[in-house]
Formats: sequence, structure tokens, C-alpha cells
Amino acid sequence: MSQYMFPPINFTGHHDVIFDLVKLLDCNRYLELGIDKGELIHKISQVVPNCYGVDIADNRTIKDVKYTFLNKSTNEFFDSNKDRFDIIFIDADHNIKACRRDFENALKCINNDGIILIHDVDPMTPKYSNRWFCYDSYKIIDYIEQKHKELNYINLPITVAGLLIVTQKNNDTYIVNDPMNLILDIVRLTNCTKYLELCIGTGDLIDKISDVVKNCTGLDNNDNRMKTNNKYNFINGSIDDFFLNISEKFDIIFINSCQDDFENSLKCLSFGGIILIPVSNSLIQYIEQKQLNYVKLAGLLFVTRKNETRVDTWKN
Ligand SMILES: C[S@@+](CC[C@H](N)C(=O)[O-])C[C@H]1O[C@@H](n2cnc3c(N)ncnc32)[C@H](O)[C@@H]1O
Repeated sequence: MSQYMFPPINFTGHHDVIFDLVKLLDCNRYLELGIDKGELIHKISQVVPNCYGVDIADNRTIKDVKYTFLNKSTNEFFDSNKDRFDIIFIDADHNIKACRRDFENALKCINNDGIILIHDVDPMTPKYSNRWFCYDSYKIIDYIEQKHKELNYINLPITVAGLLIVTQKNNDTYIVNDPMNLILDIVRLTNCTKYLELCIGTGDLIDKISDVVKNCTGLDNNDNRMKTNNKYNFINGSIDDFFLNISEKFDIIFINSCQDDFENSLKCLSFGGIILIPVSNSLIQYIEQKQLNYVKLAGLLFVTRKNETRVDTWKN
């Protein structure tokens, strides 16, 4: 443990992403398995009416709370639970057997359009997979891949630990709220170094992203930018021409243009990179044929290639 910084930088970065998700999806019922100090569930209970936190220990630092605390093991909780939830965050015992059990139990009580989140499934290097940190819960990804074809998932390589988002295939959320904060937090916490946006419109999003990512490129046929601050590389031209000449790879690509640009974008996506694109059924069919991972969230598809987690770079 003493060989590396603990806690690591941005250790609680997943709190920001989960907070963005509960707001974006208008979550009404939230369950967290393993709350530790209770910082995350406390914050979430300010915006979600019904929150439940389960923990075998009581390490809470804030006791004046708006959520229901259940001081028991996750097994004991599921043995008697009859409620259903919109978002379930699994972060208790990180041993794969316990993680699998929590996951199977969570599936039984997640609402149809709900999402299950699992923390610590993508330890950046083997040192983070020790039993006091992420342990071997990363094996849940292969488990879901083999046993749960009815589910969609993507790994977000955020912070040193990773966050898995799992939905039902027929999950059908639509845009109610603006996903800008979620996208900004994902870009920031995945240490994205190269960002590409196709059809930037007024440039609001890329403008904010260029505050945290040094190398940003935005394309548009028209120039409708509100600000021209030169923090990002703006190409006022055709997307087809751009792809003809490009040899660079990008960590995150936001496609605001048409789905025909998906294939070219995939070619210039870096290892473990993420594509964001508005939902379309024909594109989903294409993505499934290509055997890519995706989830549908708030009107956007989040797409990654299979077998490109950080664990895939060191596990064999
Ligand atoms: C990593 S901490 C949770 C951190 C918190 N979710 C967050 O994001 O800040 C893991 C917690 O899981 C609890 N835990 C471990 N095994 C458990 C089990 N079988 N049932 C319930 N809680 C458990 C521990 O007591 C600890 O507080």
C-alpha cells in the first residue's frame, strides 16, 4: 500500500458522475450498497426523494440525514427487500463472488428503465486490484458478457478505479434534462487528452470542455460560434474532408452530425475511447452487428469497443 498514493487523486470522482446521472434521469428511488462515510448518498438525498443506504458498518460522518440507513449486510438487506429502485449503486464487498451476488440481487429489484452502477471494475494498474481497493470485482464484466445477453453495459474509465453502467437492452430513457454536466465530468475524470466534436453548433459544449482538455477539435460547416476564444481547434469545413486526411486518434468523440459519421469516428477512436451520439434505432442495429458495447442514457448512446478496459491491458 505504501508504494503508491492512497487515497489516489480524484478518488471520489465517481461521486460527481453518479450525482449527474441521478439528476439527469430524474431518479426517484436510489439504493447504494456500501455507503462508508455516506458522503455520496448524503449529497444524492438532497435531490432524490427516496434514498436507501446499506452498510455492514456504520462509518457515517453526517448523521443528520434525509436517507434511510440500513445497518446490515447486503445479503440481509436483499433477503427481506420488496422495494424497487431506479438507480442501484453497487460498492460493498469487492470480492467477485460478493459482487456477483449483489449484482444478481440488484437485477431483481431494478426498474425496467433503471440503471445499475458498479464501482471499481476497472483498476488502472494491478496495484489497484489489491483486496483493500478494487480487488477482483473487475471480473463482473466478463460475467455479464457471458451470462447476461439481455443487458447492455459500458465501462467508464474514470479515476483509477472505473465505473460500470448497466441497463436493460430495452431501456428507454429520453432527454428530459441537459446532459452537458455528465459529459463534462466524464471528459474530466477519464483524463481525456484528445476530444473531437462533429457539428459544434454554437460551440457551448466544446468551449467548456476546452477548459479541461488541452487538445480539442470542433468541426462545423457553418460558423455559429458564440465565443471565438481559440482554446480549441475549429475547422470550418466538411466532415467528409476531415476524415479523408485524419490520422489522429481521439479519446472521446461527440457526434452531433449524422449517424453516417459513426464508422469514420470509430476508426479514429483511441483504445478504450468513448463515442457519444444521439440515439437512433438503425444505428443501434449497426452497433450490435459490430459487437460494440453501448448504453442508452438520456437520449444519447455511449459506445465503446469490447475488451478495451484498462484491465484488458494487464490482466493476461
Ligand atoms: C468502498 S466503501 C463505499 C464507498 C461509497 N459507496 C462511496 O462511493 O463513497 C465500501 C463499504 O462497503 C461496506 N461493506 C463491505 N462489505 C459489505 C457487505 N457484505 N454488506 C454491506 N456493506 C458492506 C464497508 O463497510 C464499506 O463501508
